[in-house]
Amino acid sequence: RHRLKGRDFIKFVDYSAGDLFDLLQMADEMKKSRNTGIQAEPLKGKTLGMLFEKPSTRTRVSFEAGISQLGGTGIFLESGHLQLGRGETIADTAKVLSGYLDGMVIRSFSQELVEAFATHATIPVINGLTDVYHPCQVLADLQTIRETKGSLKGIKLSYLGDGNNMAHSLMIGAAITGMDISIAAPDDYWPDTAVVQKALAIAAYSGSEVHITSDLYDAVRQADVLYTDVWASMGQEDERSSREVMFSDFQVNKTLLAAAKRDAIFMHCLPAHRGEEVTADVIDGVQSVIFQQAENRLHAQKALMTALMG
Ligand code: CP
Ligand code: NVA
Repeated sequence: RHRLKGRDFIKFVDYSAGDLFDLLQMADEMKKSRNTGIQAEPLKGKTLGMLFEKPSTRTRVSFEAGISQLGGTGIFLESGHLQLGRGETIADTAKVLSGYLDGMVIRSFSQELVEAFATHATIPVINGLTDVYHPCQVLADLQTIRETKGSLKGIKLSYLGDGNNMAHSLMIGAAITGMDISIAAPDDYWPDTAVVQKALAIAAYSGSEVHITSDLYDAVRQADVLYTDVWASMGQEDERSSREVMFSDFQVNKTLLAAAKRDAIFMHCLPAHRGEEVTADVIDGVQSVIFQQAENRLHAQKALMTALMG
């Protein structure tokens, strides 16, 4: 666990299976201690900066509540209110904030911005979502799958919809931890080729299977987990109506769920649009674990902050 101290958490490819399983173990411990009411304060006196360029409910509140439960303080920073908005450089901002803070979460459109910040910062930088990756969400998702299915190895996750930040992080996270993943997306919305290549290279090593297909039922066959996300992500609002047409066959509904394993669970990172990417009977049905998944954001990120900033 000491090898995680001081590191950034910007993309899964920087982390080994051992690193991720250590974090998942710590996340389970965090959950147990919150549920028993016996909580240590390993980050007493530490301060987390939280820079957000996009809206957020889960990420913002779980980080802010999490750092406070660990004995530290969170400072929410809206990008438009910093001098960054008036042209101060990322490098200067990162160097200055490193002098005040012990860790930083950034939610940005740009993966490059988060990486540039981390290059110039001397404190751990955590990716709170970019257009390319959302590793904090997938860390909590892996915790949720382990809780409900007992392991990751031998489990098949089927992701249906847009080949976006969620698809990318799920693919890399699955490949590292040995879970099988099948992604079904419309032809023009497949995940980024470079990310797929990375996932395949990691999977060849871990023994997991990574498949991308246009055939929905092929992806869902024998799946233990069905996962979907919004069809139009933050920043793509003006494509919403065209995407509704392109993605209409990819809706997760009762028929599709019935094509997976009988005990399959349904997952969604939220926020969701009922009647678009998923029907209400599925997302609010007995196979859905969306609120367990959302709660685990808190536990997984408390583990992450403790490992990186402790
Ligand atoms: N899933 C997720 O990251 O939600 P928020 O956008 O509300 O943070
Ligand atoms: N793909 C979604 C995920 C939200 C948590 C988005 O980027 O808006």
